[in-house]
Amino acid sequence: MLVSLRELLQEAKRGRYAIGAFNFSNLETLRAIILAAQRRSAPVIIQTSQTAIKYAGLEYIVAMARVAGEQAGVPVVLHLDHGTDLATIEACIKAGYSSVMIDASHHSFTENIRLTKEVVAMAHAHGVSVEAELGRLAGQEDEISVGEREAAFTDPAEARAFVEETGVDALAVAVGTAHGLYRGEPHLDFLRLQQIAELVSIPLVLHGASGVPDASIRQAIACGISKINIDTELRIAFYRAVKNFLDHHDTYDPRKFLSPAIDAMAELVEAKIDLFGSANKAVR
Ligand code: G3H
Ligand code: ZN
Repeated sequence: MLVSLRELLQEAKRGRYAIGAFNFSNLETLRAIILAAQRRSAPVIIQTSQTAIKYAGLEYIVAMARVAGEQAGVPVVLHLDHGTDLATIEACIKAGYSSVMIDASHHSFTENIRLTKEVVAMAHAHGVSVEAELGRLAGQEDEISVGEREAAFTDPAEARAFVEETGVDALAVAVGTAHGLYRGEPHLDFLRLQQIAELVSIPLVLHGASGVPDASIRQAIACGISKINIDTELRIAFYRAVKNFLDHHDTYDPRKFLSPAIDAMAELVEAKIDLFGSANKAVR
């Protein structure tokens, strides 16, 4: 069974660890994430962007995720990542997602609240949890591109008002991470993160975690992060394994060149699960 984000993140917040949210777009990337979660006995969030849904098809995604939820033996959340389009969010809720994100962070504070409240009402009526975002991360996440100048850190006082107004279940914050590859080393604003965590009672989410040094990830968790999103690093591990295999073998059988990619991605997801402290937390 697929579980909601709310219950898993509340538990993670209490236990001071974070749950990995890993993006997938096909059977192979899904299998890599589930294999890793099983090996580490970890609860896991499998998430798709809107473009992943366009790529694989909503019904295929939900069907594959349902099987994963039934067979994994660990709690699995099927989450919509960066939902910007209300029609897609509604379709995901109706199709069987157990959690959705409404990313209205590019709108004004008031409009972000209005849209988030609308999604919370719709999702909660179906027992589906909601993540929202306040502040703007720089970088490229599928179709969403934000320049460094447009990026804005989350204001702690606004975060408190936003959470109280919207009734959202988890809040993504902008504290110095960016989507995609970093040019230099990212520097996180831990003081700001601590201030937000003191004012906001719901679990906090860190986006753009690919390429963030392990020490910063540990400190972010200590400061109150309960969900960590990883996408780019997984794609790179997958791509490198396919490339490496095809550089050394001549085969047209997708199973042959995709199997090493599943293994490489699973290994990376396992390492992230260990780093986030969610291994052996899969009690149903
Ligand atoms: O929503 C997805 C994440 O924020 C992924 O960011 O590609 O930089 O790991 P990343
Ligand atoms: Zn993100």
